[in-house]
Amino acid sequence: MSQHSTAGKLADLQERLDEAVHAASARAAAKQHAKGRLSARERIERLLDEGSFVELDTLARHRSTAFGLEDNRPHGDGVVTGHGTIDGRHVCVFSQDFTVFGGSLGQVYGEKICKVMDLALKTGSPIIGINEGAGARIQEGVVSLGLYGEIFRRNVRASGVIPQISLIMGACAGGHVYSPALTDFTVMVDGSSHMFVTGPEVIKTVTGEDVTFEELGGARTHNTKSGNAHYLAHDEDDALDYVRALLSHLPDNNLDDPPVDGGPADLEISETDRALDTLIPDSANQPYDMHIVIESLLDDGAFLEVQALFAPNIIVGFGRVEGHAVGVVANQPMQLAGILDIDASEKAARFVRTCDAFNIPVLTLVDVPGFLPGTEQEWNGIIRRGAKLLYAYAEATVPLVTVITRKAYGGAYDVMGSKHLGADHNIAWPTAQIAVMGAQGAVNILYRKELASAADPQALRAKLVAEYEDTLANPYQAAERGYVDAVIAPRETRREIIRSLRLLRGKREALPPKKHGNIPL
Ligand code: HXC
Repeated sequence: MSQHSTAGKLADLQERLDEAVHAASARAAAKQHAKGRLSARERIERLLDEGSFVELDTLARHRSTAFGLEDNRPHGDGVVTGHGTIDGRHVCVFSQDFTVFGGSLGQVYGEKICKVMDLALKTGSPIIGINEGAGARIQEGVVSLGLYGEIFRRNVRASGVIPQISLIMGACAGGHVYSPALTDFTVMVDGSSHMFVTGPEVIKTVTGEDVTFEELGGARTHNTKSGNAHYLAHDEDDALDYVRALLSHLPDNNLDDPPVDGGPADLEISETDRALDTLIPDSANQPYDMHIVIESLLDDGAFLEVQALFAPNIIVGFGRVEGHAVGVVANQPMQLAGILDIDASEKAARFVRTCDAFNIPVLTLVDVPGFLPGTEQEWNGIIRRGAKLLYAYAEATVPLVTVITRKAYGGAYDVMGSKHLGADHNIAWPTAQIAVMGAQGAVNILYRKELASAADPQALRAKLVAEYEDTLANPYQAAERGYVDAVIAPRETRREIIRSLRLLRGKREALPPKKHGNIPL
C-alpha cells in the first residue's frame, strides 16, 4: 500500500500507534508484573472510569543525542499523560513508566507533564500524578533540571486552585520527590514505594550511616516518621481506591463545591447519639476513643482518615454531613492524652488549610490538655510550628464548628478552633473543662506554700481541686461570656451540627486583600 494514499497514511498511523501503545505496553507490563507492580497504563486504567482515558502526546519522543540516546527514542518518552473521568468527573492524569530509562525525567517527558498540568489548571480539573522514577535523566543534564523547575512552578500555581494528588508507586528518587511534596495528598504502597532525595549509597559515603531503602524512605517511614505521606496502602489497588475516595470529598477546583452524596438527615435522637452521653469517663485522666465521637456524627459513620499513622494524637480526615463534605480535626485522648506537639500542630494546620482552600467546612472536636512540654519540642520550634495551627484556623473562612468534649486547656483552647480565632459555632458538653490548666496543676501553683505547711496536705489538695473544678474547670464561665454558644448533652451534638452547617452553607467571608499571608514556616 502506498504511503502517499489516504489508506496508506491511515495504516501508517495504526502501525505507529500499535508500536507506541500496544507493543510498548506489553513490554512494560511484563517487566512491571515481574516485580509485582502494575504498568503505567494499567494504573491509569484502574484509576479512571472504564474506557474514559484520552491519551495525549502518545507519539512524543526525545531529540537527545548524548550518551547513545539517539539510538533509543521510545514513543511517549516514559510518561503516559491525558485525561478521563472518575465517578463521571473530569480529571487530568500522568503516569510514569519505570521501564523507560528508569522513569527518569528528560525534556520531552517533563514537557508532557507540564502540558497536562496546564490543561488541568485551565479547565479547573483535579490532577493526579502516578509517580515512579529515578529523578533527573542524567543524559539530558540541565534540561532535565529545568523541566523539574517548570513542574514545581506549576504545582505551586495550581496549589489551592485544583486538587493535586500524588501516588508513589515504586522508587522515586531525587527530583521525583519534590513535585509530590508540593501537592495536596501523597499516597504510598506498603513494601513497594520509596521516596528519598539521596539514596542509601550516597548517605553511606557522606555520613557513614547504614540504612536500607525501606528504612530510609519506605511507605511506612513516610507515613509514620516524616509525615510526607498521607496514606499507607496495602497494595496498588488500595492506593488507587483511596485516591478515588479522597476526590469524592473534594471539589473540581476552588470555585466549586465538593460533590454532594446523600440527603437530609433524620434529626430524631438515635441510639448512637444517646451512646455519647456515657462516653466520657468520670476521671479526667482516663482516655476514650475520639473515633467513636467522629463516627457517630458523620453520615453512615463513614470517616476517611488522612495521615492516620502520623501524629496519631490528632485525628484528621473527611466525612459527610447530610451528604456535604466536612473535614474533621479532633484531639485523640487515646494517644499522649491528645496533647498538641509539633507534628500534630503541623498535621492539623495543613489539613485545615486544605479544607479552607477547597470550600470544605471544618468540624473540630476538642479534648486537649495543652502543648507538649520539653526541650526537644521547644528547641525544634513548637512556638513557630505550633503557631501554624493558630494561623490556619484564624485564616480559614469556611464554616467552622467546634465541639469541646472535655479538656480545653491553656493555649490549646485558643488554638483548637476557638470562637476567638473565628469559629462560627462553638458547643461544649457539660463534661467540658475550659480553663488555663487542669485542676492538679493549678492547685500546685496557686497553693504551693499552703500545701507544704498543711497538717493534712492530701485533704487540703482534694478540697482545693474540687473547688477549682466547681468554679473554673467547667464550660459555664465560657458560656456566660458567649465563648461557647451552647452547652448541650452529648446526644444532641449531631443534630446541633446538622442545623449549624445548614445555616453556614450561606456563609460568605473574605480576608483583607493581600498578596499572600506570611504563615510561620
Ligand atoms: C537515566 C537512569 C537513571 C537516571 C536509573 N536509570 N536512573 N537513567 N537517568 N537518573 C536507568 C538505569 O540505567 C537502568 O537502565 C534503569 O534506569 C533502571 O535502573 P536500575 O538502577 O537498574 O533500577 P533499580 O535497581 O530498580 O533502582 C532504581 C533506583 C536507581 C533506586 C531509582 O536507579 C537509582 O538510584 N537511580 C539514580 C537516582 C538518582 O540519583 N537520580 C538523579 C537524582 S538528581 P537499563 O537500561 O539498565 O534498564 C535529581 C535532581 C533534580 O533528580 C532535583 C530537583 C529538585
